[in-house]
Amino acid sequence: MIEFNQVSKSYGQTQIIKDLTFKLEEGKLYVFIGPSGCGKTTTLKMINRLIEPNGGNIKINGEDISHLNAVQLRRNIGYVIQQIGLFPNMTVEENICVVPRMLKWSKEKCHERVKELLELVHMKYERYAKKYPTQLSGGQQQRIGVLRALAAQPPIVLMDEPFGALDPLAREVLQDEVKSLQKKLHKTIIFVTHDMEEALKMADVIVFMEKGRIIQMASPQEMLTNPASDTIREFMGKHVKNTHFLKVSDFMDEQVVKVSHSRPVIEATEVMKRKKVDSLIVTDQRNTFKGVITIEDLKKGTKGTLTIGELLNKEVRVVKKDMDAKEAFNLLIKSENDYLVVVGNNKEVVGIIDKTNMVETMAEALWGDLA
Ligand SMILES: Nc1ncnc2c1ncn2[C@@H]1O[C@H](COP(=O)(O)OP(=O)(O)OP(=O)(O)O)[C@@H](O)[C@H]1O
Ligand SMILES: [Mg+2]
Repeated sequence: MIEFNQVSKSYGQTQIIKDLTFKLEEGKLYVFIGPSGCGKTTTLKMINRLIEPNGGNIKINGEDISHLNAVQLRRNIGYVIQQIGLFPNMTVEENICVVPRMLKWSKEKCHERVKELLELVHMKYERYAKKYPTQLSGGQQQRIGVLRALAAQPPIVLMDEPFGALDPLAREVLQDEVKSLQKKLHKTIIFVTHDMEEALKMADVIVFMEKGRIIQMASPQEMLTNPASDTIREFMGKHVKNTHFLKVSDFMDEQVVKVSHSRPVIEATEVMKRKKVDSLIVTDQRNTFKGVITIEDLKKGTKGTLTIGELLNKEVRVVKKDMDAKEAFNLLIKSENDYLVVVGNNKEVVGIIDKTNMVETMAEALWGDLA
């Protein structure tokens, strides 16, 4: 855990950081955002003591970092900067291994680590390890910058506008990679950006700074729905309606035609006729999802003797009601079925999303209510 207690920093008469107090939990991705000059980089650099505060204290896991050896501290904190900062006279492999070598890892261990890390970002060891930075694209160099920061497995990684210089496509790929690495490796990442889209996409928690203070610290969802100031609202701008933050439950159809798995098959046929549908959602007495049954399944069954539960088809994809809508859309597009079943936390059926209401919702999110 990282803790700031009334931290301040001045240059001459100008106070840059004002009484900054906050706590960051382990294993989360925090995005610091705010207008240029608000103190993001300064805050970041105080964590690895590239800048020392004038007042207050900073603790990592309860220990005041001003009592630690600064060099040792930095070896335990990965750091990625916008200008990438790879050493031009070192190969990819050597660049990645700078910190492990300082930590006296053996050659073999360093080598294994480089192979493993390159694999994580889909770069082949044989192809890239011996290259020099100038022989790589900007996006590849930035990847190596990220890997270098992760190499010695630091629990904390600081990233200061790491993707600022990249084209949108490379940027998006790297955002996804960092996010998935973070999930896999459970790092505490502090990521600085001035791009709200990037913040919304990546953050577990967004920390909004203005004039050396924190104005709001909240989840992307919370900041979107309740921005604490006009500056934040301005930063959100067009993103307020970002489709990214719709959940499955925002557009599911709650009218679900269901049958119980213990009923005879004939009942399924009747319900289909009556409701004019060709498939039904099957549940048990407690409304727990069991599967679906379609006209095709009914044709396969022997007359009258079976219960619905014996004929049902379990292939249908199920999604949770609080799943990101975009993710669900992707699943639905790839699915052979016309719909997905939406369940709550206890697998109870709460609705369905089908290809029709998906299109309507997307249209509404993009262009507003058309009705
Ligand atoms: N060495 C210094 N001497 C004097 N003022 C400084 C120094 N370093 C930074 N500042 C000032 O401190 C303020 C905060 O700088 P900082 O680099 O932390 O901002 P930032 O939020 O990272 O901005 P940006 O988004 O432009 O990177 C700025 O007004 C800057 O001019
Ligand atoms: Mg900065």
